[in-house]
Amino acid sequence: MRILAIETSCDETSAAIIERGENGRMHCVTNVIATSLALHSQTGGIIPEVAAREQAKFMVPVIKEALQDTPIDSIDAIGVTYGPGLIGSLLVGVEAAKTLAWVWNKPIIPVNHLYGHIYANWLSEIAPQESDFPALALIVSGGHTDLVFMENETSLRWIGGTRDDAAGEAFDKSGRLLGLSYPAGPTIEKYAKSGHKGVFTFPRARLDTPYDFSFSGLKTAVRNEVQKLQSQGDLTEPMTYDLCYALQEAIFDMLIQTTFMAAEDLNVKTILLGGGVTANQTLTERFRAVATEHNLAFFSPERKFSTDNAAMIGAAAIMHNTPLPWEELRANPELYFD
Ligand code: KG4
Ligand code: ZN
Repeated sequence: MRILAIETSCDETSAAIIERGENGRMHCVTNVIATSLALHSQTGGIIPEVAAREQAKFMVPVIKEALQDTPIDSIDAIGVTYGPGLIGSLLVGVEAAKTLAWVWNKPIIPVNHLYGHIYANWLSEIAPQESDFPALALIVSGGHTDLVFMENETSLRWIGGTRDDAAGEAFDKSGRLLGLSYPAGPTIEKYAKSGHKGVFTFPRARLDTPYDFSFSGLKTAVRNEVQKLQSQGDLTEPMTYDLCYALQEAIFDMLIQTTFMAAEDLNVKTILLGGGVTANQTLTERFRAVATEHNLAFFSPERKFSTDNAAMIGAAAIMHNTPLPWEELRANPELYFD
């Protein structure tokens, strides 16, 4: 099976060709990503209108580049993200996919962006196998933090998530307080490497619903500490590194504690991560170490497939191959888990 996949849910414009051969292995032939991040880093966050305008310009050249030497006749279907995300951005990808499905007379496979983050794991050399299930997937992205129980490769049952900010948002909003440009996650990871343990400690939220998360209190605690240090004239560069260390540890402790508690309750064999925050090497190393302690298998997407990309949408389209007539497809910015 060969898929042309399209992803435009946030600020990336991406197209990919993904195949699944006789042996069941996925293969990423091309994965082209154009981003308007440079524009957003100047404004401290994504302005939806700006993102969508750039995507409308990027869409056709990105698809053309992804197609490269792939004959159109050899494409079986078009997979496209139809939600969740920014409506203007989603519409660019969805309408492009519908146009191609009509002109080329191909089926269209609607893909939930969040499924894409999970199935990014299937693009690796060593992908999850049937024997790795039941599994627990944790999605940590800029817009979402969700725990999903997977009885098998294709069944996804949401069991918990954030009540306020997403994990990536906690990085981005705290980073903004520290004067870091958007997205702050990668900079905080870098600064945390030079930070020291024990200089600052931020609270770990505990909720009465055991599989949920909350990160908004952390942001408030960071704001208070930053204001205090600024008023004393003490917010030096080394202090910023120590703050980044403490902030990152607080986020990761909360993610680890809740995920492994759920893993034990649900008796899973495997932990799967997905989403942009998994680009953070400290996070994946910590999860891998705890998974090993608990005797659980562990998967995290390759770095190039962790932040938004169309390859993961192609993988999800292959795993959840439920085509629609193109006339029936609508973007759904509020889409979530069933
Ligand atoms: O999955 P993604 O590309 O977009 C959404 O679907 O939201 O995730 C983007 C998020 C941003 O919040 C960004 O700060 C975070 O992923 N991120 C990181 C790192 N790289 C990206 N967070 C922590 N450490 C990183 N190295
Ligand atoms: Zn995403």
